[in-house]
Amino acid sequence: MPVPYNANMPDITPHSKGLHPDYRIRLMEPGDMTALIEICKVVYPHDVPYTPQELAEHHFVFPQGQFVAQHIPTGEVAGAHYTLRLNMIDFHLDDPWEILTAHGTFDDHNPKGHSLYCADIMVHPRHQHHSVARALTDVTRELVRTENLWRSVAGSRLPGYSQHKDAFTPDQYVEAVERGELVDPVLTVHLKDGWEVVRPIHGYLPHDDESAGWSALIQWVNPACPPPPEFQLRK
Ligand SMILES: CC(C)(COP(=O)(O)OP(=O)(O)OC[C@H]1O[C@@H](n2cnc3c(N)ncnc32)[C@H](O)[C@@H]1OP(=O)(O)O)[C@@H](O)C(=O)NCCC(=O)NCCS
Repeated sequence: MPVPYNANMPDITPHSKGLHPDYRIRLMEPGDMTALIEICKVVYPHDVPYTPQELAEHHFVFPQGQFVAQHIPTGEVAGAHYTLRLNMIDFHLDDPWEILTAHGTFDDHNPKGHSLYCADIMVHPRHQHHSVARALTDVTRELVRTENLWRSVAGSRLPGYSQHKDAFTPDQYVEAVERGELVDPVLTVHLKDGWEVVRPIHGYLPHDDESAGWSALIQWVNPACPPPPEFQLRK
């Protein structure tokens, strides 16, 4: 059953290039949980999906960072983007998703963190290729600006890498995707959406066989906010 279109939920759809007019972006609400779990099962068939408790916890600790895309004609939930604030100096560059999300709970959300950690973005295959992920990314940048954060960070899956791992090192693969010589179903989307690669990391999602255990650490720096003092290395 589609989630009914709730016209009372504030519309926070950004002006995203190419977004199909049938979609809107709004904050997650408790009635979305079942639909969000179904999307998770479809896009990550080999993973344990989020539990209702985990999604409720995300909503509880940082409600303004949980975004949902809705297909207006049907009311269906089309996709989601889950975020939390972290102070990245508390972590290692190559910490896995499990550590960065406190095992999927977001209990490590730090209201004073300088970085918006974009823990997961997903769009149901029925709604992919309508620039929904781009809008779900742009709306997180609005949050970075309104909360005056330094940057967004994320780990990009590299689901095309397993097919190329005998021919390319992870660095070579990522560089080829950056140059547009190879297309990766996830990293290519992120690059088109304005993320830059920091470096490939191993073990971020250890069971992601499509990515051969590799990911790319990616970031988007808010031009309006200087780095926090502890990152101003020239001082
Ligand atoms: C990655 C994902 C979120 C993209 O969602 P989407 O809504 O289809 O992406 P968009 O329509 O916003 O695409 C943005 C850009 O990337 C391009 N793009 C989308 N999917 C692509 C693909 N498989 N290969 C190459 N380019 C792609 C689009 O053409 C668009 O570029 P354009 O404006 O120049 O045409 C979606 O494929 C997904 O949910 N995948 C499974 C879950 C996952 O792996 N999430 C990432 C976790 S790191």
